[in-house]
Amino acid sequence: MTGTDQVGAAGVTIAALDAAHTDALVRFFAGLPEGDRTFIKEDVTDPAAVRGWAEDGSARWVGLGDDGEVDGYVAVRRLPGWSDHVAELRLVVGPRRRGAGLGRVLARHAVTEAIASGATKLVVEVVAEQGAALALFTGLGFRGEALLEDHIRDRSGQLRDLMVLAHRVDATWSAMDTLGLPEALDEDATPA
Ligand SMILES: CC(C)(COP(=O)(O)OP(=O)(O)OC[C@H]1O[C@@H](n2cnc3c(N)ncnc32)[C@H](O)[C@@H]1OP(=O)(O)O)[C@@H](O)C(=O)NCCC(=O)NCCS
Repeated sequence: MTGTDQVGAAGVTIAALDAAHTDALVRFFAGLPEGDRTFIKEDVTDPAAVRGWAEDGSARWVGLGDDGEVDGYVAVRRLPGWSDHVAELRLVVGPRRRGAGLGRVLARHAVTEAIASGATKLVVEVVAEQGAALALFTGLGFRGEALLEDHIRDRSGQLRDLMVLAHRVDATWSAMDTLGLPEALDEDATPA
């Protein structure tokens, strides 16, 4: 995996998260509307925790604008123990780049990486009112698998429903064909 990729005319580069990006990533999370931060389980307001991600070997990528600022973030986390065939995706795009295709590109990148790592089931947790996220992941072949009522609290204490969307990877290569992802995998497989 090279970790980098050019994203069309939008001029956004996808890079595997490393220590050089962490200050910009902390600024990105700090600048997000509160509701958008809800979906990330880690404490993204803690700069020390965010800096630690670059060192912990986890699968995380940032979408970088021409100015070096982070415009999007995606992570793939394998679940532990008896669910270690399952990969969970987390995705957020900053307000200044919304609606320009970055979310779809980051999501496809993460799906490709998750399938290539051997995961046979992919899941994403979406706050029920997040229509954009629902549409994006449904378009990538995810389907609603569970609705967890009053499952999370936002910072004001209000209870919100959480949807679990899932994608089954029956046969790795056919699934990647379905998603139109082989080219992306080829790029990522090129030695750095
Ligand atoms: C979901 C999110 C990542 C989308 O990012 P984005 O870069 O704006 O999305 P894209 O421009 O790539 O759009 C991809 C598709 O998503 C859907 N979509 C995007 N914005 C939408 C909106 N405001 N309303 C409805 N659908 C929308 C569309 O299906 C779109 O495809 P189309 O352009 O062919 O119609 C972004 O809204 C976000 O960060 N939301 C908060 C965090 C979150 O909910 N994350 C998901 C759970 S992990």
